[in-house]
Amino acid sequence: MKPTQTQAWQKLLAHKASGVPRVRREDVARLDTFSVTLDGLRLITAFQNISEETVGLLLDLAREQGVESARAQMFSGAKINTTEKRAVLHTALRQQSDTPVCIDGENVIPEIRATQKRISSFVDAVRSGQWTGATGKRIRHIVNIGIGGSDLGPRLVAEALNGYGDRLQAHFVANVDAYELQNLLKTLDPAETLFVIVSKTFTTQETLLNAKLARQWAVAALGEPCVAKHFVAVSVNHAAVESFGISAENMFPMWDWVGGRYSVWSAVGLSVALLIGNAHFSAFLKGAAAMDAHFCAAPLAKNMPVLFALMGIWNRNFLGSSSLAILPYAERLRDLPRFLQQLEMESNGKSVTKDGQTLDYTTAPVIFGECGSVGQHSFHQCLHQGTDPVPADFIGVASDDQGQPTPHRALLANMAAQIGALAFGQTKAVTPQDIYPGSRPSNVLMLDRLDPYTLGQLLALYEHKTFVQGVIWDINSFDQPGVELGKRMAKELESAPASNDLIGRLYTDCQCVTSTVLPDSAVA
Ligand code: F6P
Repeated sequence: MKPTQTQAWQKLLAHKASGVPRVRREDVARLDTFSVTLDGLRLITAFQNISEETVGLLLDLAREQGVESARAQMFSGAKINTTEKRAVLHTALRQQSDTPVCIDGENVIPEIRATQKRISSFVDAVRSGQWTGATGKRIRHIVNIGIGGSDLGPRLVAEALNGYGDRLQAHFVANVDAYELQNLLKTLDPAETLFVIVSKTFTTQETLLNAKLARQWAVAALGEPCVAKHFVAVSVNHAAVESFGISAENMFPMWDWVGGRYSVWSAVGLSVALLIGNAHFSAFLKGAAAMDAHFCAAPLAKNMPVLFALMGIWNRNFLGSSSLAILPYAERLRDLPRFLQQLEMESNGKSVTKDGQTLDYTTAPVIFGECGSVGQHSFHQCLHQGTDPVPADFIGVASDDQGQPTPHRALLANMAAQIGALAFGQTKAVTPQDIYPGSRPSNVLMLDRLDPYTLGQLLALYEHKTFVQGVIWDINSFDQPGVELGKRMAKELESAPASNDLIGRLYTDCQCVTSTVLPDSAVA
């Protein structure tokens, strides 16, 4: 059912009309009232424009929309991705017990365990130097070639946990602009490089073109047989992997019940496991499993993903915010905004309900972001004084793992100050330019430390937040039909651009250099 048809929705509209609750600076107790902790991760919603009544009504909305039964369905292996008729079981990939999880009566856990065993042996072999390149040299560089979910998750985790990597360097290539790959290859020795080609479908144009370029580069230096020692693949599509020239023993499976943007827990995380090793990769899965267990068991009023999702619903559907800023105050999380752009916008950027009715309410906000404090010196002006209030998620790390207490204190002071300036503003000022309206809401996510376990918790939290919002909006969060039209048009253009068509003409014009070449004297 559409959320607008629930009683809670109507009550929330009336609640908002009676006056949006404001956060008062002296109300220190809010920090305990509006906060949930799970292991080393704390969600603080005290800086949202909410009261306990607001939260109560939002929880009623979650109940009326059947969040609890939808959650049970997802974890049970039901085919909740209705358009693609698929189960959604990324949670099974990090399940710690061997309790059966069945799709159409078939338990998926044995296959997951068998794949994890293969991954773990391969990781040990490469990291220990037992697996060498074609010339017998040790592998020192991993190049992950993939795009979207086959890139953003592993890229984020590898960057965030790079400090746990000791023996290898991981690199990521996504763009079909050959600059990215060529620039990287210049720095690498083919004899020491392992390419991990990640594509669920193994039909994605960008990935296949980059993989071909990489293969040409390796073969030119080491000869055709090197492919067996320098290329491995992760995919559902065994036939396409083999026709690329990667044999079955160098291929790690994934399954159609894992969405690309939810897949870093599977073999898609291979580059991460190679970088940080099996023990740390297991800790990453354990952290996510802990969040899964909490999501399933905690009452809604104390449930971190549910409360987190509801803050977004309040801001988006009742307070009218159309964007969300992701502001990690940790350089190692600099890829988090990009990862969340795919997770939330590809999952919930939809305009029809699960059964195809047009929505009369808004869904996913536009996500953007940047690390603090870097963003403070660019777009934060707009966050503080722009005409549209932009809710923000601030992500901080309590411990100073760089052994540099002074900059660390500055980082956290800046984060707290931004949250305060947004929430409380400055209304008494000499000039209108110095007025900060305040009442600009934030979530705060505090990690005790940025380690594999806590990062697993954080990413699983965002996944479940996205799921809960999708359930409330009555949309399918697990398909992405909106990406197909552009792909198809690009293929048509490449094969035969129509000259009497505006886009065909644009494409043709794009390939013509129109500038006059400057004489050398002018360049000098
Ligand atoms: O085009 C969108 C998309 O299908 C994403 O959903 C996916 O993560 C990405 O492309 C990459 O797909 P694949 O892993 O099949 O190459």
